[in-house]
Amino acid sequence: MSAEPVTLAILGASGDLTHRLLLPGLGTLLRAHPGLQVDLVGAAYDDLGEDAWRERVGEALVDGGCRSEQARALASTTRFRQLDVTDAEAMRAFLAELDGAGHAIVLYFALPPAVTQRAIGVLQGLDVPPGLRLAIEKPFGTGLHSAQELNDLLTSVVPEQQIFRVDHYLGKATVLNLLGLRFGNRIFEPVWNAVNIERVEIIADEALALEGRAGYYDGAGALKDMIQSHLLLVTALFALEEPASMDELELRDLIVHALRAMHLWEDDPTQSRRARYTEGQIDGRTVPDYTSEEGVDPDRKTETLAEVTVEIRNSRWAGVPFRLRSGKALGSGFRGIVVKFRPVAHLPSGFRNEAAPNMMVIGIAPETIALGIATNGEGSRWDFEQTTLSANLSESPVRPYGEILDGILSGDPLLSVRGDATEELWRILDPVFEAWSDGRVPLDEYTAGSYGPTAWN
Ligand code: BG6
Repeated sequence: MSAEPVTLAILGASGDLTHRLLLPGLGTLLRAHPGLQVDLVGAAYDDLGEDAWRERVGEALVDGGCRSEQARALASTTRFRQLDVTDAEAMRAFLAELDGAGHAIVLYFALPPAVTQRAIGVLQGLDVPPGLRLAIEKPFGTGLHSAQELNDLLTSVVPEQQIFRVDHYLGKATVLNLLGLRFGNRIFEPVWNAVNIERVEIIADEALALEGRAGYYDGAGALKDMIQSHLLLVTALFALEEPASMDELELRDLIVHALRAMHLWEDDPTQSRRARYTEGQIDGRTVPDYTSEEGVDPDRKTETLAEVTVEIRNSRWAGVPFRLRSGKALGSGFRGIVVKFRPVAHLPSGFRNEAAPNMMVIGIAPETIALGIATNGEGSRWDFEQTTLSANLSESPVRPYGEILDGILSGDPLLSVRGDATEELWRILDPVFEAWSDGRVPLDEYTAGSYGPTAWN
């Protein structure tokens, strides 16, 4: 947590991301660290007006659990500026105004990627305040080449240490707990390898459908929206080598180290799968066919469910498939990691059945852990049955966006995605995007509310 006051300027203050995720996340952070000193400034192209902005800030902070006096205090001091971030003169004046307060400054781009990129291009031509931090949202480029260009542009404005590429999955408590679970217990790290683990599944299934986000989602799809960012990073955190310490250099080096060894299974992009939902029922409500949602262009063939298997080519993981899957409008809302262990190497004779291999399930939301073990069957010494040891982990009081903001406000990029990692993420999946746009992988269909195309089971 930063002890120094920080100016947090949110560009795109009138947008959905600011209202739904950023401000409530800040609310949870302020509740956990009431001493945090944030000078909050909202800026947007449309003239929201200071009163409306202050009202939004107050409401969203309270939504994040911030005590109402604290929320009222911040809401009464926050300022709003109408701003065209692509106008160099306007940006120069805005930065000069922010710099006047004498605090460290964060520019948080809660804007569509193309607008963010143009705004960073504008900053390139300006004298930016020393220590300026830039926070940007995914997607970071549209492929390997454009990610490299974006990284060159960003580092021409400020050094890498001052760039915070936001991936809120890195702020999720269970994702971070992967490290504690593995390195803080005697019983996991020794079996965390291909000798003992047969396969790993990293899943983010959502019951939510398009929710009016066609403008963004129809151009992205499940692979880009979830797998290219969140799930590949979770895979790297699961698989990385042991850090010497939990600092940003060590951890981010090891994330990139794991990503560099990551490749599509058998280097074959056509083993990936994609599908799109058709009309169905979820929780008693009818979800329309994806292609009939407002703003969707069916010819884009955007997938709402994607699946890719990767392998990690090092001696710890060679031969272990990591299956990554994410989709919308699904009957299961399971988000988590499933680890399937290999069967025991040898079972003494006399047991009457096979022991089911151990399984571990780490739930991301809700935060849970379950371990399947073989035990003697009830009333029968030599028959196995499976017993599950399970626990609900206590929910983190700080939401993922709060965790991420904590790092940004204190200038610690530990939970931000480093530039070289973004390039690896594209390098791994670019062949899949190509195979899909060339029509080499069929676009299947599934009924909304189901578990995916029946043929996939
Ligand atoms: C976002 C995606 O990054 O993550 C959304 O753009 C998705 O489409 C969301 O719904 C999922 O996040 P969470 O925290 O609800 O798992």
